[in-house]
Amino acid sequence: MTGVDRLTREQAAAELARLAAEIARHDRLYHHDDRPEISDGDYDALGRRNHAIETRFPDLLRADSPSHRVGAAPSEAFDKVTHGRPMLSLGNAFEGDEIREFVVRVRRFLGLGDDLTVDLVAEPKIDGLSASLRYESGQFIQGATRGDGRVGEDITLNLRTLRDIPLRLSGDELPDLLEVRGEVYMAKGDFETLNAQRLADGEPPFANPRNAAAGSLRLLDSKITASRNLHFFAYAWGEVTPPPSGSHWDMLERFERWGFIINPLTRRCADVDQALAFYDELAAARAELPYDIDGVVYKVDALDWQDRLGMVARAPRWAIAHKFPAEQARTRILAIEIQVGRTGALTPVARLQPVTVGGVVVSNATLHNEDEIRRKDVRVGDTVVVQRAGDVIPQVVEVVLDKRPGGSVEYVFPRQCPVCGSTAEREDGEAVWRCTGGLLCEAQAVERLRHFVSRDAFDIEGLGEKQIEEFWRAGLIKEAADIFSLEAHRAAILESSGWRETSVNNLFQAIEARRHVSLERFIHALGIRHVGETTARLLAGFYGTWEKFLEGARAAQDREGDAYVALKEVDGIGPKMVETLVDFFTDAEAIAMVTALAEVAPPEDFEAPRGETPLADKTIVFTGSMEAMTRAEAKARAKSLGAKVAGSISKKTDYLVAGGGAGSKAAKARDLGVTTLDEAEWLAMIAGAGDGRPLDRVLPGPCPFGTAAAPTGPSW
Ligand code: IVH
Repeated sequence: MTGVDRLTREQAAAELARLAAEIARHDRLYHHDDRPEISDGDYDALGRRNHAIETRFPDLLRADSPSHRVGAAPSEAFDKVTHGRPMLSLGNAFEGDEIREFVVRVRRFLGLGDDLTVDLVAEPKIDGLSASLRYESGQFIQGATRGDGRVGEDITLNLRTLRDIPLRLSGDELPDLLEVRGEVYMAKGDFETLNAQRLADGEPPFANPRNAAAGSLRLLDSKITASRNLHFFAYAWGEVTPPPSGSHWDMLERFERWGFIINPLTRRCADVDQALAFYDELAAARAELPYDIDGVVYKVDALDWQDRLGMVARAPRWAIAHKFPAEQARTRILAIEIQVGRTGALTPVARLQPVTVGGVVVSNATLHNEDEIRRKDVRVGDTVVVQRAGDVIPQVVEVVLDKRPGGSVEYVFPRQCPVCGSTAEREDGEAVWRCTGGLLCEAQAVERLRHFVSRDAFDIEGLGEKQIEEFWRAGLIKEAADIFSLEAHRAAILESSGWRETSVNNLFQAIEARRHVSLERFIHALGIRHVGETTARLLAGFYGTWEKFLEGARAAQDREGDAYVALKEVDGIGPKMVETLVDFFTDAEAIAMVTALAEVAPPEDFEAPRGETPLADKTIVFTGSMEAMTRAEAKARAKSLGAKVAGSISKKTDYLVAGGGAGSKAAKARDLGVTTLDEAEWLAMIAGAGDGRPLDRVLPGPCPFGTAAAPTGPSW
């Protein structure tokens, strides 16, 4: 072999190309196929030669060079990356029956006849963290965390160190552009070794392999990531050009050919019974697997069906997670304390003798509400079974009665707010006691502000819970609007500990940068009960501007008037939400608060995410039955094209789509002069809008996808 110092530039370039391919092939043989062809010594020699050539010709460093596997110099912070398509989360189920219902819903949505079966792909649900990998012309060019689903962090350098992630795709029929999604995880064995090492070095151990993987991936020094031996299973995709066709299973096979690792337990199931049998098998094998899994994910195999099913909120209708039962442990209740939430809800929390549940130390568990405490008869001093499932707050499952100490007394739920002393109220039909102190209650005020600045709301960098509490206590921020005049208190802030000139300047800049958020974020930030992100978005889409929203919500107080009727008609807004919204806007204090806020920080008008479509901003009503699609699919389609779907005809209706057997609605539409479309006209109207896929799958839109727990159970 020619000595490195004698290589010409051309020879060096050619050899680096050959080494990149050869080392990648050995990586695959070793890590994926488990049949290495050369000794570790020979493998290392290839790496050393590659490194030596690169050192002599640094400008010849290739994007797919194996030396990226060893990591790069530390950087300052991660850049933000907007995913080509949002990274979705999954609806959860715990019971087999819920999975059967899932399939029934899929069938109903698609209007499938009995002759058609729904093939499912069942995959282990890997307990790691998801990442998105972007390939252009076969080269790995960028890797990102999930972040809020729409925007993640650029962790390319760290991901490049994972041997399971090809730096260049292999095989043929490579897409021009490919976003591969999958899970980064740490094997249980590597986790044990890492923790033993950390303890020996006097560093705190990680709670579980998932945290260890997360901690190892979000390091600014990718050399450390490289030493952590993280792995990656590919199981989904985002933007792909040209778009894939066929089945999910075919796509996984393509992934394999391109060099990714697919979980070997993945199975194609011809029906729900096979899928559930797979779940049982996996549950039994779980403890023996070399990595943590927390359930099974079922995905409708046919991609054209996936496309038609689309998504709801931030989860696909074509997939569902079937979680394993939560992990449990026993411990003792030291005290029961009451927490006051932003809407005044009093939530009892059990303070526990710390106990490890599924690898995580738990010292608090929620007791939900008064009825739950009574139902389980939970008392201070009791030994209880606590459980945690995934990321959810630990819960008290039951009391171990034979361990109850003598003389224990029933817990009496307070009738007063423990923070401000105001009386608590419990409305008819509600399980929750609420503090009536409103914004006078410190807890409520602070919680509201915390919600206001949280990630899915105003998301002001550098203004987190801690700072909000600090400013509240100092009297600098009493309500949301005050945030935008915080600069007036510069001197006072600088006097308090922890703030320096630069950090204060950064904070003011960050506040300024978020002065005008989207209308949906703004509405969500107000913290109105039952108005979460999805509802806020629906409302923003319905009213379009802050002024119209405020006017509409205030006018809706008149339960007989048009404004109330219109609000009730917004598809997806339930009666509870309507009532709490109307209530919120009857409260003079609340109105003063939001008006002051909108004055100093007016939100942007709602922007339909999808540009011009024939249905954008139209109000549409469906009646009767259609041949080509079910009513549910038609509604979803209309919404994804920017339309508002209403339940009944009014003057505001733009179109009535009348399928077979349409009755009184068609007559009413005629009376009111509303345009009526038959099925063929409806299909013609939506044909050509987008490329046949629901647009909510094509365009990310401005919708803020939060990282809060995935929706529990599909709501469609
Ligand atoms: S599919 C479009 N498949 O679970 C659907 N997710 O609860 C996107 N996860 O954020 C997810 N194993 O981090 C999918 N085989 C699998 C998975 C999986 C683990 C994680 C993933 C996702 C979370 C949703």
